[in-house]
Amino acid sequence: MRTPLIAGNWKMNKTHLEAMRLVQEIGHELADHDPRKVEVAVCPPFTSLRTIQTLIDADRYELVLGAQNMYAATEGAYTGEVAPGMLKALNCTYVIVGHSERRELLGETDDEVAAKAALAFDTGLIPIVCCGETSSERAAGDTRSKVEGQMRAALGGLPGERSRSVVIAYEPIWAIGTGETATPEDAQDTISYIRSVLESLFGGAVAGDIRILYGGSVKSGNAASLLKGPDVDGALVGGASTDAAEFVGIVKAAL
Ligand code: 13P
Repeated sequence: MRTPLIAGNWKMNKTHLEAMRLVQEIGHELADHDPRKVEVAVCPPFTSLRTIQTLIDADRYELVLGAQNMYAATEGAYTGEVAPGMLKALNCTYVIVGHSERRELLGETDDEVAAKAALAFDTGLIPIVCCGETSSERAAGDTRSKVEGQMRAALGGLPGERSRSVVIAYEPIWAIGTGETATPEDAQDTISYIRSVLESLFGGAVAGDIRILYGGSVKSGNAASLLKGPDVDGALVGGASTDAAEFVGIVKAAL
C-alpha cells in the first residue's frame, strides 16, 4: 500500500519570517490530520529550514520537512552549497533532486542528479527525483523516452531494496507555473509508464512500492481529478503550496 504524499515546493519564495506564518497556518489547518492517510511535506528555502523544523517539533504539526536541493558531497570547499548531512541534522526527511528548474536554468546534469540521489540515500534522506518533458519534446512524441532516460540515469546505479523508498515526481515542464496541467489521463499514462521503467530496473515488488507524484499547476480545484489515476500517488505542488488554504485544499483532495 502506497501512502500518498503531498509535498509543497516553495521554490525561492518566503523569507523565514513569512515562512513561519505560512507553516503555522498550514499546521493549524491540519491539526487533526492523519499522516497515515496522506503524508504532507513542506520544502522551504534553506534559509527557513531551521525555523520550520523548530515549529514542527514544538507545535507537533503533522508535517515533515524537505529541502529543495543538496550538493553531492559530504563536506568541503564548495562555496554556497549545502551538504546532505546538514539537511539530515535539521531533521529533513526529503530532498528534491533534479527539479527541471535546476536542470534547465542551472545546467544540472543527469550525472549530478544520480550522484545526489545516491548520496541522499547514504545520508538517510529520501530523494524526490524529478523528471518531465518540455513542450517541444511533448509535441515530438518524446515524453516517454525523455522520462525513461532521466529515470534510468538517476536511479540505474541504486540497489533495488534501497530504491523502494525513493519518491519520483513527474512534472511536465510545460505545465509548471503555467496554469496548464496534464489531463488526468495523460498524468496516469506517463506515470504508469514510469512505473514500468522502475519495474525493469528494480522488479515488480519494489516498483509497486515506489510513490510517483504528479507536479505542474496542481491547485485545490484540480487536485482530485489529477490524483485519481491508480498510479498517481500524490503531488509536488509549487505555486499553490505557498497559500495555506490552497495547499490544505490539495491535501484534503488527496484524502
Ligand atoms: P507549480 O505548481 O507552480 O506549477 O510548480 C510545480 C513544481 O515545479 C513543483 O516542483
